This record gives sequence, C-alpha cells and structure tokens, in this order.
Amino acid sequence: MVNVLLVFALVSAASAFHLSGQEEFHFKSWMAQHNKMYSMKEYYNRLQIFAQNKRMIDKHNEGNHSFTMRLNQFSDMTFSEFRKSFLWSEPQNCSATRGNYLSSNGPRPDSIDWRKKGNYVTDVKNQLSCGSCWTFSTTGCLESVTAIATGRLVPLSEQQLVDCAQDFNNHGCNGGLPSQAFEYIMYNKGLMTELDYPYTATEGICKYQSQMASAYVKDVVNITAYDEMEMVDAVATHNPVSFAFEVTPDFMHYHQGVYTSTKCHNTTDKVNHAVLAVGYGEDNGTPYWIVKNSWSSSWGIDGYFLIERGKNMCGLAACSSFPVV
Ligand SMILES: *[C@@H]1O[C@H](CO)[C@@H](O)[C@H](O)[C@H]1NC(C)=O
Ligand SMILES: *[C@@H]1O[C@H](CO)[C@@H](O)[C@H](O)[C@H]1NC(C)=O
Ligand SMILES: *[C@@H]1O[C@H](CO)[C@@H](O)[C@H](O)[C@H]1NC(C)=O
Ligand SMILES: *[C@@H]1O[C@H](CO)[C@@H](O)[C@H](O)[C@H]1NC(C)=O
Repeated sequence: MVNVLLVFALVSAASAFHLSGQEEFHFKSWMAQHNKMYSMKEYYNRLQIFAQNKRMIDKHNEGNHSFTMRLNQFSDMTFSEFRKSFLWSEPQNCSATRGNYLSSNGPRPDSIDWRKKGNYVTDVKNQLSCGSCWTFSTTGCLESVTAIATGRLVPLSEQQLVDCAQDFNNHGCNGGLPSQAFEYIMYNKGLMTELDYPYTATEGICKYQSQMASAYVKDVVNITAYDEMEMVDAVATHNPVSFAFEVTPDFMHYHQGVYTSTKCHNTTDKVNHAVLAVGYGEDNGTPYWIVKNSWSSSWGIDGYFLIERGKNMCGLAACSSFPVV
C-alpha cells in the first residue's frame, strides 16, 4: 500500500510538470558534477526546479541576447531561495546624494582592466550561503587599492567584517555596505588578512587583534549617487571601485556576454548585491563594466561578469565607493 501511494505520488508529481527522461538525465549529470545528494522526496522537488531553470536557460540562449546563460551551482534553487541565501534581505542605507569624489577631468582611456595592469586583483572568492557580498566587495577593493599603493597584493579578511562591523550599520550575513565597511576599517584602525582571520560563512564573535592588522584606510570616498561618469573617472584614474546593483532571476544563470535587463530597477532602495568594478571597455558599440563577483570562479566568466555601462543598469551607479590608503 505504501509503495503504491509512493509510486502514485511520484508519477503525479512528474506528470503534473511533464518531465522528460532527458531532463532527468541532465539533472543526474548536473548532480554528479556538483556533488549533490538528496532524499527521495527532495530529489523530485529539486528535479522539477532544475528542469524549470534549464528550460528558461535554453529558451534564453535560443533568443537574440547580448549575454548567454548556463547551468551552474545554483540550478537546483528557485530565485526566492537564492535571494534568501545570497542577497541582502532588506534594503541598505545606500545613498550618497552628494559624494566627496573629486573628478580628475583628465584623459580617460577607452578601456582599462586592472587585472592586466599588474598584480592588483586577488583571485575570485566564494561567499557561500551568507549575504556577505558587501564584505567581498570591500576586501576586493581594499586589496587592490593597497596593492596599487604598496606593490603588495594580500587577500584580506571578510570574516572580520562579518563579525565586527555592526556598529557601522552592517549586518553580517544579512547585508551591509562597502562604504560603511570602509568606515569601520578606518575607525577600527585596521583589517586582518584572510589567512589570519579566515572566512566561515557564518556570523561569529569578533576576534579582531589590532597587533595583527594588515591593511588600513585613511579616508572613504563616496561617489555621488547615479553619477556613472564619476565611477568611470575613478576606475580610469585611481583604482577598482565597489558598487551595488539589483540582482533579478535572469542574472542567477549568467554565463558570458554583456548583461542587460529590463526586469531590474535603477534605484538605491532596490539594490541587493555588492561587487567590484575592476575595469571597463566596449564591445561592438556597447560599453560595459568588467566586474568581480564572489560566487566562485566557476560562475560566469571565471567568476567575473560584464554589465552594460552608461545607463545606470540595475542601479549600479546608486552607491559606489572606495577607500584611500
Ligand atoms: C539581434 O540583435 C541585434 C542587436 O539588438 C540586432 O542588431 C540584430 O539584427 C538581431 N538579429 C536578429 C536575427 O534578430
Ligand atoms: C539605516 O540608518 C538608520 C540610521 O542610522 C539605522 O537606524 C538603520 O538601521 C539603517 N538601516 C540599515 C539596513 O542598516
Ligand atoms: C560615505 O558613506 C558612509 C556610509 O554610507 C558615510 O558614513 C560617510 O559619512 C560618507 N562619507 C562622506 C565623506 O560623505
Ligand atoms: C530610472 O529609469 C527611468 C526609466 O527609464 C528613468 O526615467 C530614470 O531617469 C532612471 N533613474 C535613474 C536614477 O537612473
């Protein structure tokens, strides 16, 4: 009787969605590739979500878009599950109505990539299941700014920011802002290295030891909200810049090409993910940013993505900042 009911439940779950044998085959090879294991019940639930994601990806890739999608480590998740684990759960106070960036008004190259100018950008990291993107945007920026100033590229601690930066309106795995994290480092008088204060992807007690500080911040520069030309000027003449934007479902499975979206918003209250602009360029007349993400090097273009530049795409010019060392 139990077996009959189980079979009936499985058949009806599958037939309600018309899963094909091929979709199950793709799911099983995806599971093997990503070392996934599920209970019997969870297996069919995840198979359905995977099949929906794969159909959406295949349909997108058949269309004429400036970017392609592909399966990745998130392909067994719905967007709402993804949002809970990887994005800010509530809006952050991101708005520098008038920033303190002084434009150089100097000549700006047509393209720049700080990864190619020297040893200035650390390897792509992985925030895992914790809304700590803001700490990776912060360390990525400070690592680069420090390396440009000193010639030494040292991976810095995200975990110190997760555990210790609450007094500056940061909230560990629930979100925060690079500008507020730079303020914390400035007033705290230092940030430890990744090696000395390693990442755990959970909130813990603050274990900062001032005698082990490795990087410092003298001042914080906020770029005026929505002034994307200031961002270009800063990346062209100074260093990589932290920024935030709104991630919508079409971004989760980004593979390569220039990302654009009509689904995202362009305002400060909707941005939900912080990243690092390490350069910019232009592809067949479409200007783009080169951006370092924190979803491991197996996501996107070896962990990076390109997003259209010049239109405040998905609010990317809403709150950008960088430290002075
Ligand atoms: C694809 O999109 C590009 C850019 O929008 C356009 O120039 C081109 O004509 C489109 N091609 C097709 C086959 O629709
Ligand atoms: C925004 O700022 C206010 C005032 O400082 C603070 O009370 C509030 O918690 C902040 N919001 C977030 C999400 O940090
Ligand atoms: C920059 O932004 C931070 C956090 O949003 C804020 O605390 C600080 O006062 C701002 N600094 C300037 C110079 O506007
Ligand atoms: C947001 O988009 C709307 C509609 O395209 C546009 O009118 C507005 O100027 C944009 N706002 C910002 C801050 O980019």
